[in-house]
Amino acid sequence: MNSTKNYDIKDITLAEAGRRRIEWASREMPVVKLIRERFAKEEPLSGIRISACLHITSETANLALALKEGGANVILCASNPLSTQDDVAAALVEYGMPTNAIKGEDEETYYKHINTALDQEPQLTVDDGADLVTTLHTKRSNLIGNVIGGTEETTTGVIRLRSLAKAGGLKYPIIAVNDAQTKYLFDNRYGTGQSTIDGITRATNILWAGKKVVICGYGWCGHGIAMRAKGLGAQVIITEVEPVRALEAVMDSFQVMPLIEAVKIGDVFITIAGNKNVIDKAHLQVMKDGAILANSGHFNVEINIPALESLSSNKQQVRPFVEGYNLKDGRRLYLLGEGRLINLAAAEGHPANVMDMSFANQALCLEHMVKNRGKLETKVYPVPEEIDKQVARLKLDSMDISIDTLTPGQEKYLNSWQEGT
Ligand SMILES: NC(=O)c1ccc[n+]([C@@H]2O[C@H](COP(=O)([O-])OP(=O)(O)OC[C@H]3O[C@@H](n4cnc5c(N)ncnc54)[C@H](O)[C@@H]3O)[C@@H](O)[C@H]2O)c1
Repeated sequence: MNSTKNYDIKDITLAEAGRRRIEWASREMPVVKLIRERFAKEEPLSGIRISACLHITSETANLALALKEGGANVILCASNPLSTQDDVAAALVEYGMPTNAIKGEDEETYYKHINTALDQEPQLTVDDGADLVTTLHTKRSNLIGNVIGGTEETTTGVIRLRSLAKAGGLKYPIIAVNDAQTKYLFDNRYGTGQSTIDGITRATNILWAGKKVVICGYGWCGHGIAMRAKGLGAQVIITEVEPVRALEAVMDSFQVMPLIEAVKIGDVFITIAGNKNVIDKAHLQVMKDGAILANSGHFNVEINIPALESLSSNKQQVRPFVEGYNLKDGRRLYLLGEGRLINLAAAEGHPANVMDMSFANQALCLEHMVKNRGKLETKVYPVPEEIDKQVARLKLDSMDISIDTLTPGQEKYLNSWQEGT
């Protein structure tokens, strides 16, 4: 990267294609559009420096444009080495937002890009997985004094930041956008559900009907993937460590068993647990020949890839995003997208319509942080309930759907204890 440039992308000539893609996504993001129009009038983020570490996709571009209209100076970097849409990155640069992201970048470049985003000395951070905030709290802690607050997009990031806060290390307030109902009930469930199936289908072109699909983790994302795989005719098996979620999976009509049993019969394995070595060496050692392995959890640690390498004599690229590992005992296992989140690696991530709600929460939470500058404690906050409700109301409005309201009598009843049978 040229030292005078604060962006690093694959190819600026892709900008026109990226712009068209961003405009296409905007048609499906009416709530962000409304916020963008209001921000343009009110400029609630006037002069605020925002460093955003997000998947560089057309939906993220629409959020970034809304923040820019709100008066912010936005610099972006990728939250995953494989999730960048290079044409969108180019368009963002042309829109005047320095972007540091190249699809397929190595780990060194990934962190170099995070550091470039931090070089603008952010007052607000937007993170997806907490790599930017972690870098800010460790190697770049001299910059923390400028920061008003930050937001975190995903489950894994929220878990990391809550651990940091618990250890007494968090240095500024964060809003856990992931935990808004208008985020996880839709983005994690319907977004990850559809796009994970999309990513695996694009990478492999498998027929889902009749396949035994093992889903490791029955959280909100796992619910969505299981629902969609079932809809395509797959026989879904769930593995879990939490008894309540396992029970829910049983009553949702899925088979539940330990992974060590499931590996003997599964055709496709999808990790979505937000945990490490969910598929471990012991599982790989007995996994059915020809099985396909994909991950949709945030980090590429859910499948023990070093163990897979150690069990293999060699590997071949079979198709884009599909590597065939030839095991020393003669079996073959297929790993998709290097174990990185497959919906973004091999497809386009969540549809814009669902990111509309996640990113509406992001924009409104950033505005909230600026409005309440200096008044917030150093902790991980939930999304304010009024923001969550507002996003739901605006989304319903955009769909032309109205709902009932409580009568005064009902409101009184719900707030009292006197009336029984
Ligand atoms: N691919 C995407 O676009 C995308 C979108 C949203 C979230 N995510 C990521 O997906 C992951 C899951 O998110 P979520 O919101 O569903 O989380 P969640 O906390 O609701 O669910 C995770 C589930 O996995 C279970 N689990 C943990 N360890 C396990 C193990 N060893 N075996 C089986 N189950 C195990 C937990 O008990 C829990 O029920 C996170 O890393 C999150 O950041 C990815």
